[in-house]
Amino acid sequence: MSISGIKGFNDILPEDTPLWQFIEATARRVFARYGFSEIRVPIVEKTELFCRSIGDTTDIVEKEMYTFSDKGGHSLTLRPEGTAGVMRALIEHKLYAQDSVNKLYYLGPMFRHERPQKGRYRQFHQIGAEAVGTAEPVMDAQVLLMVSRLFGELGLDEPRLQINSLGCPDCRPAYRQALVAFLDEREGALCDDCRRRKSTNPLRALDCKVPGCVEATQGAPAMVEHLCSACDDHFRAVQGYLSEAQVTFSLNPRMVRGLDYYTRTTFELVTGLLGAQSAVAAGGRYDGLVAQLGGPSAPGIGFALGVERVALLLGDRAFERRPDLFIAVVGEAARRKAFALMAALQDQGRWVEVDCEGKSLKGQMRRADKLGCRFSMVLGDDEVVAGTALLKRMADGQEERAALAPEVIAGLLNRD
Ligand code: HAM
Repeated sequence: MSISGIKGFNDILPEDTPLWQFIEATARRVFARYGFSEIRVPIVEKTELFCRSIGDTTDIVEKEMYTFSDKGGHSLTLRPEGTAGVMRALIEHKLYAQDSVNKLYYLGPMFRHERPQKGRYRQFHQIGAEAVGTAEPVMDAQVLLMVSRLFGELGLDEPRLQINSLGCPDCRPAYRQALVAFLDEREGALCDDCRRRKSTNPLRALDCKVPGCVEATQGAPAMVEHLCSACDDHFRAVQGYLSEAQVTFSLNPRMVRGLDYYTRTTFELVTGLLGAQSAVAAGGRYDGLVAQLGGPSAPGIGFALGVERVALLLGDRAFERRPDLFIAVVGEAARRKAFALMAALQDQGRWVEVDCEGKSLKGQMRRADKLGCRFSMVLGDDEVVAGTALLKRMADGQEERAALAPEVIAGLLNRD
């Protein structure tokens, strides 16, 4: 019996990888322009790292982590997100001492034990970026500008940017109290989870999808109305910069994030095109995280996009690669000549295919069609002796006689 893959863990097949490569290459190109460098951190970390950063009472830590003991009895976890590991590395290698602001990006798989559905998987991929070392609102705006330009270059006008502020340790406690008082009055209408969250993580009640909770929390106090003056100034400044660069955004005062490390600016890029999975990218400021993990006081801001969700949005767009030329052969002399031409053209960056299966001429031409080759050429004894052959453009069947010299053929391939 054959062995299948694990539920929620997907293969990314050759027909899909060009789209993934396009997304990754676009992100790398845009990040480079904003001065971000790539960092590669392990997929497995000590469990404690995620408990301390994401927060013990979050869904991720409570329910979704792939945690196991290794042979030495240490509790390890497959990373559910990228920020914690990047901050761990920044502290461990004292990157903050080398530069006052570190701008880092990463790509790779993340793991959450969620119920799989369209756009939600147990192994999924993020492309993320983190800017650590400054609390200035202009950095929030730079990251948001970069994210919005990235989606522009991906060719997506969906998703739309929504922003909010979650305040700071000075102003959030009073807001939390006001929210708990509001929820207390509506306790009977809340689901079991939200009743429990009321004492652990009341902000999550604003994000609950249970219809009773959605209704009960209409009119709940919003963090933006309770910001201290420093947080209010910060949030206004961020919006000012965004308007300056004509970045389109809207305010979403009900946005709460599923990770506890956020302070001040938070944001999501949301779409209505992916059913229940509306967030395509998300992030925010985390001014206390590095210190909380044992590092210096280094405020930061970052985001991550879900590659599967971006790929779903880009969906139907064609990112197919097609061979430039198929050389079909009849006879051994032609096969040798084709091999030499193939080698020389490949050295010039051309994708050339020849028969490797001993197919008949008809079979070879069928394969050229199947591969979607742009040009084809048939070589037999006569062509080898004459030193020329007909080069056929597959799109319209137009033929042209070409000398069997790589530079001549390369020139003709350019004409398409
Ligand atoms: P997050 O909101 O948990 O934030 O995830 C970011 C993005 O990852 C989501 O918007 C979504 O596109 C994608 N994603 C999350 N879970 C899944 C899943 N199960 N299947 C498919 N895609 C998923 C973070 O992870 C933060 N570390 C972002 C950040 C970076 N904040 C500051 N810096």
